Amino acid sequence: MQVAYIAAIDQGTTSSRCIVFDQSGGIVSVAQREHRQIFPKPGWVEHDASEIWTNVQSVVRDALAHASLSFADIAAFGITNQRETTVVWDKTTGEPVHNAIVWQDTRTDALIKQLGDQDRFRERSGLPLATYFSGPKLRWLLDNVSGLRERAERGEVLFGTMDTWLIWNLTGRHVTDVTNASRTMLMNLETLDWDPELVSALDVPLAMLPEIRSSSEVYGTYEGVPVASALGDQQAALFGQTCFEPGEGKCTYGTGAFLLINTGSTPVQSQNGLLTTVGYKIGDEPAAYALEGAVAVTGALVQWFRDKVGLISSAAEIETLARTVDDNGGAYFVPAFSGLFAPHWRSDARGVIAGLTGYISRGHLARAVLEASAWQTREVVDAMNADSGVDLTTLRVDGGMTANNLLMQFLSDVLDVPVVRPIVAETTCLGAAYAAGLAVGYWSSTDELKANWHKAAEWEPSMEPAARARGYRKWKKAVERTVGWMD
Ligand code: G3P
Repeated sequence: MQVAYIAAIDQGTTSSRCIVFDQSGGIVSVAQREHRQIFPKPGWVEHDASEIWTNVQSVVRDALAHASLSFADIAAFGITNQRETTVVWDKTTGEPVHNAIVWQDTRTDALIKQLGDQDRFRERSGLPLATYFSGPKLRWLLDNVSGLRERAERGEVLFGTMDTWLIWNLTGRHVTDVTNASRTMLMNLETLDWDPELVSALDVPLAMLPEIRSSSEVYGTYEGVPVASALGDQQAALFGQTCFEPGEGKCTYGTGAFLLINTGSTPVQSQNGLLTTVGYKIGDEPAAYALEGAVAVTGALVQWFRDKVGLISSAAEIETLARTVDDNGGAYFVPAFSGLFAPHWRSDARGVIAGLTGYISRGHLARAVLEASAWQTREVVDAMNADSGVDLTTLRVDGGMTANNLLMQFLSDVLDVPVVRPIVAETTCLGAAYAAGLAVGYWSSTDELKANWHKAAEWEPSMEPAARARGYRKWKKAVERTVGWMD
C-alpha cells in the first residue's frame, strides 16, 4: 500500500514550518515556529542555527501530531529554505562556530568593494558582486572568527546554507542542492560544481564545502523516512507553481519578493540587473535555469511597521489602516534596509520616506508601505521584459502578502497585467513536497503535478495610464534619494 503523505520543511527567514500534503497537493497539517532575529549592529542580521534546528524538530513533531500521523505515514521529507544564509559548524560536536549570517546582512560591504568590478563573477556564477550571497559571508567568518581558517583547512568545520545545515542534522550527510549552491557565488553555473577560480578568489578552503547534488533525490533518511528534496525557497515556489516550461514564472511575497522565470536548460545572462540562477534539477535530468528579480524587503517592511513603529498590531491590520485613505497622499517609502537588490544592486543604499507633508496620516504611511512592494515588483518586471524581449502577460503570485487584496489590486494596476493566485498559496512547501515526491515515486511526473494547479483569485488592472506613469516617476525619484547615505 502507498504511504499516504509527503512532509515539507520550510526553513524561512522569520520562521520554520512543516506542512504535510496529500496526493492531490492538498494541505493536511501545518506547524510553525518563529525564531529570533538578532541585529547586533545597523545592517547586521543573524540567526541562531541551533535554535532553528530545535524549532525544525518541533514543527515536524507538531505537524505529524496535529493530523495524528507517525513517521511511518510519511513517504518522504522535502526541504526548502531561506537562501544564502550562512552557517559554519564543528564537524564533531555539531555546534555552530558563530551565529548564522543572514542573507539580508550587509557587513561584507567593504569586502565586496575590495573584490572589484560588480560584474567580475557574473558569467561564472550568474550573480553580481553583492553582500547578499553566501561566499562573501563565509569569507567574513573565516577572517573574523579566531582560528577558523586553520580549523577549516584541517577539515574540522563544515560550511552550509540552511538546507545543508538541516540535511546534516537530519541525515548526517554533508550535501547541498544545485539551487542553494547557485546562491553561494562559489558554484559554476555551467558545470554545476564548485568553481576553482571563484573558490580561490574568495579564499575559501574546499574541504569545508558540501557535495552538490540534484534538487530531487534521496540524500539520506530521518526516522526511517527518506529526505528526498532540497530547493531554495524561491526555486521551490517556482516548482510549486508548476512553472516547468520556459517563459513560465511567479513572484513570491514573503520577507522579500522574488520573481523567477524559467528559462529552460541554458543559463541566460541578464543585461538589466537580474540574477541567473538554477531553477531546479530533478535527479539525473538536465538542470532548468531561471532569471530572478530579487527584492530584499517587502513583507519585512510590514513587519518593521508593526514591530518597530507600532502603528499596527498585526500584519493583516495594514490593509484596514491603508483603506482609511484613498491614496498615498504623495508619500513614497523605499525600504532599502539591506541596500537595494534587483535591479539596482546598491549595497550602500538606505531606506527613505519621501514626499512628507503635514497632510500625511498613518493611513497614508500604511499605503506607502504596501505600495513599495508593488513598485519594486514593477522595477523587476521591467528588467525581465527588457531581458527577454517579451512582455509579461500575467503574473502568478504566492506567499503571505497575497492575502492583502488592496496590495494585489495595486500590483495589477502598476504592472498593467492580471495577477493570479493559485488555491494552494503555500507554493514554497508544495514545491519541496513535489520534488521529494517525484524522487520516491509518490508522484510520477511533472504533468501529474501541473494538473493540481487551480486558480483561486485574479485581479485585473484598473488604473488610468497617466496615474500609473505619474506614480512610477515619483517612485523612481524616491529611489534616487536612497543612495549617498553611507558617505
Ligand atoms: O534569498 C532570500 C530568500 O530565500 C528569503 O526568502 O521567504 O525566507 O523571505 P523568505
